[in-house]
Amino acid sequence: MLVNYLHKITNLIFWQFRKKNFENTANDEVKYALDSLEKNSYFICKNFLNSNETKKIKKKLQTYRRFHKSREKNSIYFSSRTNVSLGLDYIKIYTENNIVKKIAQNFFNIPVEIEKCTYEIKKGLKEQKNTLGEHLYHIDRGYGVLKFCLFLEDINLDSGPFCIVPGSHKWSANFRNFFYRFFHLILEGENDKISHSKIHKYVNKDDEKKLVGKAGDLLIVNTGAFHRATEMKVNSTREVFWIYTKAPNYLSLLKKKILKKN
Ligand SMILES: [Fe+2]
Repeated sequence: MLVNYLHKITNLIFWQFRKKNFENTANDEVKYALDSLEKNSYFICKNFLNSNETKKIKKKLQTYRRFHKSREKNSIYFSSRTNVSLGLDYIKIYTENNIVKKIAQNFFNIPVEIEKCTYEIKKGLKEQKNTLGEHLYHIDRGYGVLKFCLFLEDINLDSGPFCIVPGSHKWSANFRNFFYRFFHLILEGENDKISHSKIHKYVNKDDEKKLVGKAGDLLIVNTGAFHRATEMKVNSTREVFWIYTKAPNYLSLLKKKILKKN
């Protein structure tokens, strides 16, 4: 518990000293993506997979889900999340892609690794607004969190696109934003959601962006920025494949350095 807390504190400090200039880091596309993550907290890589590749991976994941346990919910949505084993050959076209690898290497000061992959399906069941949980603005950590989201079908405004306030991973927005980030270490989980009536005190909600795209597009996002899920229309569906990355463990890196010195 204490170690976990110290780990988050060190990440919070090191995040401030992250690289913000990617001039000599990588090729043009990766540099553009990293710049966009720094400026806007997200980037959409168009046609990351072509339609055959997308269909193939989608079919394989649908079969995989049938034989593996999923976390399912049935409220005003049907929602299912299946953890997908990292060793599968057919996901390597995504997980070992050069853009994904280069961005993971350069997002923090030291490379981040893949933590897990999740296949997600959602379907709208009832015409009702969801004003709870992930539908309220929150951040995932006080520092940056790198996630990749491959669209397995077109995502439009009806299919509950991911919604973000661009640039809101930066601390300088205002004091309330700063303190929310600082104490997020304690609030994280159930208590970190901000109601729609109060969000204007933290960020300008008018700046929010709903991130739509086509099947085969790749959304890359820093969920250290303010974000939320959005409503789905009845019968609309959403099928995506996530890569969650692990934040680097600066604490263990420091420990190793100190032990080496002694
Ligand atoms: Fe989140």
